[in-house]
Parts: sequence; C-alpha cells; structure tokens
Amino acid sequence: MKVAVFSTHLFEKTILQQASNGKHELVLIPAPLSVASVMLAQGCEAVSIFVNDDASEAVLQKLNELGIRYIVLRSAGYNNVDIATADKLGIKVARVPEYSPYAVAEHTVALMLALNRKLIKAHNRVHDSNFTLDGLTGFDMHGKTAGIIGLGKIGRVVAKILTGFGCHLLATDPYPNPNLEKELNLSFVDIDTLCLRSDIITLHTPLTEETKYIINKKRIDQMKKGVMLINTSRGALINTRDVIEGLKSCKIGYLGLDVYEEEKGLFFEDHSTEILQDDVIARLMTFPNVLITSHQAFLTDTALQNIADTTIDNLSVFAAGKSSPNEVKIH
Ligand code: NAI
Repeated sequence: MKVAVFSTHLFEKTILQQASNGKHELVLIPAPLSVASVMLAQGCEAVSIFVNDDASEAVLQKLNELGIRYIVLRSAGYNNVDIATADKLGIKVARVPEYSPYAVAEHTVALMLALNRKLIKAHNRVHDSNFTLDGLTGFDMHGKTAGIIGLGKIGRVVAKILTGFGCHLLATDPYPNPNLEKELNLSFVDIDTLCLRSDIITLHTPLTEETKYIINKKRIDQMKKGVMLINTSRGALINTRDVIEGLKSCKIGYLGLDVYEEEKGLFFEDHSTEILQDDVIARLMTFPNVLITSHQAFLTDTALQNIADTTIDNLSVFAAGKSSPNEVKIH
C-alpha cells in the first residue's frame, strides 16, 4: 500500500522504514496533515498521522476526494480525528493502543523528581561553578500523598513506581477496578477528595468532552497549598490560564507539563529564531517552578519500535481487507 506519512520526524524515519521492510511504500512527509498539506497524499491509499495532525471534517472530506481509505495513527490518543465523519465516509482508522506505558509513566516521574529536587537549576549552577545549595531544598516523596486521575495503562505504571517511593496513593477513574486497590495499594476516591488530599496530582485520562479542563479554578481552589501538578496526557485537560493564576498565588507549588493545549504548531518544531507569539506559554516559562517538555514522554527506543511495528501491522491488516483489533470506531 502507498502511504503518505505526515509529521515524519527524524527520530522515527529509519525505524519506520525498517519496520516496513518494503511491505508498504512509505512517502515520508515532514509537514503535519492539514487543509494546506492534504494534497501531498495524492496517489496514496492511506495516510499515517501523529498527535497534532488535523483530521477534522474538512481534511477528511479532502482525503476522501483523493481516494484515501485508511488512516493509521502513530499514537494512542485520537482526539484529533473526527471519527464520526471518517465512519460516514467509510475511511477506516486504526491507532497504536499501547506502545509503552512505561515510557510515559517514567517521564511523568522524571518531571516530578526534576521539579522537586530542582535539578535544572542545580545543573545550571554547577556549570556556572556555583556549588551552593541555597534555594535547592526539595521534599521526601516518601510518605506524601499522590493522586492519580485516570488509572488506565499509564496511570497504573505511575502508581507502581510511586508505591516504590513509599507514597500514599489515591486514584479516581469512572471505571474503578476494586482489585487494583489491593494490587497497587491505593484507594479510589472522587476527584474532589483527590484534589483536597493530594500533595502531588498527575493526569492520565484521555481528552474527551468530559475531561476537557478537568483541572480548572474550582479544582485548583480545592487543592493543598504548594501542590505539585503534572500533566503528560493532553494539554486541554487543564485550563492553562487558571493554572497560571494558581502559580501566581502560590497555590500550585510545582507544575510539570509534557503537553500544552495550544501545542499544535509549536511543539515538535524549532521556533528558536522567531519571536514567540504565544503569551500563555511565554508566561508559563517565566515561573521558576514550572518545567515543560514538548510532548516527549513517549520518546524511548522501545516505544518508537512498538509504534512503528504496530503501524505497519495495522496497514497490512487493512491491505489484506481484514478489520484490525486496533480500529477506532464510534461508540
Ligand atoms: P487508558 O485508556 O489505558 O487509560 C485512561 C484511563 O482514564 C481509563 O482507565 C479511563 O477509565 C480513565 N478516565 C476516562 N475518563 C476519566 C475521567 N473523567 N476521570 C478520571 N479518569 C478517567 O490510556 P493510557 O494508555 O493510560 O493513556 C492515557 C493518556 O495519556 C492518553 O489518552 C493520551 O492522551 C496520553 N498519552 C500521552 C503521551 C505523551 O507522549 N505525552 C503518550 C501516550 C499517551
């Protein structure tokens, strides 16, 4: 099958080609899929896209006109695809439901530790031959209460790691599995209780209509003063402007982000020679207790290999006219 692979990054090119091993003709396109770039898919049967590509109704209509029958996502999340329209047009969509929950969970904990122990500041100081310690005091993770919002694949790995640190664990999930309370030594509570009682709060839910801005002013007001908030899931789970107010009032003591609600057109790209136009992220970057990475939680060699292998498998299953277990359907 000839496939237009949008948003191809240097870090995945070779892995994708090797995983395909000639099974599919991959047309590697650095640009993200959008109304402006959709014509690059001409002559292909399938497109492959990543987290910030635009597969909204207008783009899907154009893809359909070009004869595209399949979309294979190189991600787990699919909030950027209008599934109902794809279904109506008969375009099949498949994703990579699981490639390494460990990669994302470990990055989540890396953000927690780097913020807590002020590793970036410490590193910069030492490189400046300043070996003093004032201003670098952290806290013991042991004995602190960590609240996990969304106890799915990634949330469960985070729980296991934090159990190792000796944290007390709270979790909230619309489908609480009672066996997990014992297995992971945690208590399921409602989100209000979790916000009230946690020293650290970490988000691991998909972005849906219900979870958009799940962290907002009301919830921040409920939180402990100095709370650590971590988001490695999707940017719009938190209302960034409310979080900035929370940082200014010192209610939020630490903020770790791997995702940002306006990351499209910003993350994954080099804007270092331009004037930054986004005042919200610019404000976030002024806080000494904010650490931002640009959607790299998934970026391990294991995860990249799994993403490439599953993507090629999804294409092969579609090419064989079969339906894929990784297909995304309307509920
Ligand atoms: P999953 O589907 O295994 O787990 C999600 C959990 O969230 C489920 O248990 C679900 O019941 C729960 N949930 C749904 N609505 C909720 C609500 N209102 N409140 C609390 N919990 C709720 O998904 P997985 O694999 O753990 O991934 C979670 C998210 O992480 C993905 O949706 C994606 O957005 C993000 N992600 C981020 C990556 C990165 O590089 N930063 C990479 C991979 C995933």
